[in-house]
Amino acid sequence: MKLSALRAALAATASVAAVGATLLTASPAGAATTLGASAAQSGRYFGAAVAAAKLSDSTYVSILDREFSMVTPENEMKMDATEPSQGQFNYTNADRIVNHALGAGMRMRGHTLAWYQQQPGWMQSMEGSALRQALINHITQVAGHYSGKIYAWDVVNEAFADGGSGGRRDSNLQRTGNDWIEVAFRTARAADPVAKLCYNDYNIEDWSAAKTQGVYRMVQDFKSRGVPIDCVGFQSHFGSGGPPSSFQTTLTNFAALGVDVQLTELDIAQASSSAYAATTRACVNVPRCTGITTWGIRDTDSWRSGENPLLFDGNGNKKAAYNGVLDALNAAPGTPTTTPTTPTTPTTTPTTTTSAPPPGTCSASVSLNAWNGGFVATVRVTAGSADLNAWTVTLTLPSGAAVTNSWNVQRSGDRWSNVSYNGHVAAGQYTEFGFQATGSGTPAVAGCG
Ligand code: G3I
Repeated sequence: MKLSALRAALAATASVAAVGATLLTASPAGAATTLGASAAQSGRYFGAAVAAAKLSDSTYVSILDREFSMVTPENEMKMDATEPSQGQFNYTNADRIVNHALGAGMRMRGHTLAWYQQQPGWMQSMEGSALRQALINHITQVAGHYSGKIYAWDVVNEAFADGGSGGRRDSNLQRTGNDWIEVAFRTARAADPVAKLCYNDYNIEDWSAAKTQGVYRMVQDFKSRGVPIDCVGFQSHFGSGGPPSSFQTTLTNFAALGVDVQLTELDIAQASSSAYAATTRACVNVPRCTGITTWGIRDTDSWRSGENPLLFDGNGNKKAAYNGVLDALNAAPGTPTTTPTTPTTPTTTPTTTTSAPPPGTCSASVSLNAWNGGFVATVRVTAGSADLNAWTVTLTLPSGAAVTNSWNVQRSGDRWSNVSYNGHVAAGQYTEFGFQATGSGTPAVAGCG
C-alpha cells in the first residue's frame, strides 16, 4: 500500500486514531527501506557527492554502499584536479571514486568539465583563443578518459550571473565568446557519445527568478538549434525553509523543453524533514526528474557542516529528514503499490526479450538503446507471486558483445545478481539494472531466480 493510501485509510477510521501515530512512522509492509531502492521503484536514482579521501572511512563507505545508487565526485573531476599542469592529466583520485562506485553497482555523475572556479593556475591567467583551445582539449581528454563510465556529465557549471540580469556571469571562459557553452557541449558529445550532458547551476529553482529564466532561454535555444543538451542540474542548496514554492513548476517547465531534470547537490540548512520531503516530492511529481543527489553523506562531510544540512548525522545515524525523503520516494507516482498483486507481465518492445515467469520466483526482460557499435541494456527483474530477497538473472550476450560497465548489479560471467540495496523486490513488483556494451544484438534472458 502506498503511504498516501495508508494515511487515507487511517483518516477514515476513527477507531485507529490512537495507534495512527505509530503506524504513520512505520514503513508500509514491503516498501523499500533504502534511498537507492526507494528511488529505483519509480525508475530514479538517489546519489551522494563523494570525496576520495573518505573512501578509507568504513562508516562512510558502509552508508554509501547501503543507501546510494549514484555518485558524484565532490572535487576530484574538477579542472584543477584533472589537469593540474597544462596537457598533463591526473585521474588518480577520480578513478578511485569511479572504481568504487562502478564496482559496487552504482552509477556516476561527472562533475564538472568547465567552471569559472577551481581552474588550475595555468588556466586562470588564460584568455581568448588560447583558453578556448585549452578548454576544448580539456573536455576532449577528460570526457574521453571516462567515456562509457559516466551516466551524466555536468558539462558546464554555474555560468549564469546572480541577481536580476538573467545573463551570463563574467569569467575568462565567457570572455572567449558567448558560444563557449555550446562549444563545450558539442565537444563533450564528440568525446563521450553516451553520457547525458547537463547544464548545472544554483539559485535556478525559483521559476520567477531572472537567473532561472536566463538558463531556461539558453536551454530552449540549444534545443531549437540542435546543440546537444540532455539535462539540467538544479543544485538545490536550500535555506532552512526548503525549496521555493514554484520548484515543481520550474522542473516541469524545463522538462517540457525536452531535457531531463535532476537535483544535483541537495542540502538544506538544519535539514527539516518537511523541507526534505517537499523537495523530494517536487522531483518525484515530475516524470522527467530522474534523480536526486545530496551534496555529501553525513553532516560532518558537508561544505556547510555548521548548518547540519544532510540526511545522516556525524555518527552516521539516519536523521528525521531521512525518513521524510524515504516516505516521499515510496509514495512517488509510478511507484508500484506494495500490497501483493497478481504478477504483471513486463511490457515488451521489439527489442525486448522476456523469460517465462516461474511461479514464486522472477521474470526478466531486456530493453535496448542501441547505436552503431554499442548499446545500453536495461534489465527489469519482476518478482513472481512471492517477495524476492535476492535474485540472479542469467543472460546470454550477443556474439562478440563486450560489457564495459554496469550499474545496480554485480556480475559473475553470465550471472547478474542484486547488490545490497535492490535484492528485496515485493511480489509482483520490479527493480531494474543496466549495463553498457560494445557490439550489436540483443541479450537473451536464459533464467531468473
Ligand atoms: O584538499 C585541500 C587541502 O589539501 C588543503 O589543505 C585545503 C586548504 O584550503 O584545501 C583543500 O581543498 C579544498 C577542497 O574543497 C577539499 O576540501 C579547497 O580549498 C576548497 O576550495 C574545496 O571546496 C569545494 C568547493 O566546491 C570549491 O571547489 C567543496 O569541497 C565542494 O563541496 C564545493 O562544491 C561545489 C560544487 O562543486 C558546485 N556547486 C557548489 C558546491 C558548493 O560550493
